[in-house]
Amino acid sequence: MALKSVLITGGNGNLGHLLADHFENIGIRVISFDIAQPQRPVASRNIITGDIRDIEKLRSLFDQEHPDAVVHLAGLLSGSSEANPMDAWEINATASVNLMQLAEQYNAAPFVFSSTVASYGPDVPADLPAETPQWPQNVYGATKIATERMGHWMKTKRGFDFRCLRFPMVISPFAPSGAVTAYPGHACFAAKSGKPFKFPVKAETGMSTLYLMDVVRSLAEFTLCDKACIKQPAYNLHAFHFTAAMLAKSLQNRFPDATFSFNPQEPANSMIANWPDVVDDGHAHDDWGWKHQYGFDETIDALLETLN
Ligand SMILES: NC(=O)c1ccc[n+]([C@@H]2O[C@H](COP(=O)([O-])OP(=O)(O)OC[C@H]3O[C@@H](n4cnc5c(N)ncnc54)[C@H](O)[C@@H]3O)[C@@H](O)[C@H]2O)c1
Repeated sequence: MALKSVLITGGNGNLGHLLADHFENIGIRVISFDIAQPQRPVASRNIITGDIRDIEKLRSLFDQEHPDAVVHLAGLLSGSSEANPMDAWEINATASVNLMQLAEQYNAAPFVFSSTVASYGPDVPADLPAETPQWPQNVYGATKIATERMGHWMKTKRGFDFRCLRFPMVISPFAPSGAVTAYPGHACFAAKSGKPFKFPVKAETGMSTLYLMDVVRSLAEFTLCDKACIKQPAYNLHAFHFTAAMLAKSLQNRFPDATFSFNPQEPANSMIANWPDVVDDGHAHDDWGWKHQYGFDETIDALLETLN
């Protein structure tokens, strides 16, 4: 049955507002739920403000809106989770599980969850095989795994259509400040505005990365693909690896007067340095036809174009 409506939690965020545009452009009605106000008004969209921990508010949303599917993006990011671990647990883990129970009760399927390669530990190979055990040393990763596991349990025991993507660093002009991975967008903005920029990581620090528009497309394609295509508990995605030095050089080629320095901050530098450089996303290619479109150069071009 074709999807007519989708609830996007975190629908006013970096990924959520673009995913909402994408779905609306292909005729799918969007209900956006977020604690933050939208970055811009959208007349076509039902935007509901609320806390993802407010289960009664969510229940009345399901009663009134009957979304066909859920894309669950609301949550605290890496930096905010490390700073507020108990909030991170309540928002990212407990509230996610409550939302899955509601989606199941109201037959909203699929339920798509956005996890992260930050759920792997520091001692994994830089070139990460798909079946690597997840033992993160950060709260953010721990909350994401908890939800992955509960979703998988509901899928295998009760037939709930739980789907999970694990994203690497997402390069974005709208990168939220709570993410330790927000600096590439800020570096591009500084270079374009003729301002000096201090990278909060070492020159050699980098990790597996995707451009925002590839992430949005992956979420849409993954939500819309046939249930029979989903054969893995979760899918890792990857496009390219880059370091802060590579980004500085690429920007310097485009803006010869740009000046960069490296002032590593903790925990940001260690977190990023410990996350994988290259992730095997072969299962996503094979099972549901995933293919990234933006490599490193295309990403910087697109980012600078958006900042226009
Ligand atoms: N951006 C990345 O690099 C990246 C990488 C891997 C995974 N992810 C995941 O993708 C999802 C979306 O990320 P994003 O980049 O759009 O981040 P974002 O911060 O822009 O979006 C998250 C949204 O969740 C909302 N939110 C936070 N707490 C809430 C609460 N208590 N109740 C309701 N809403 C709440 C925020 O207001 C925000 O709009 C997140 O779950 C994140 O963990 C992002």
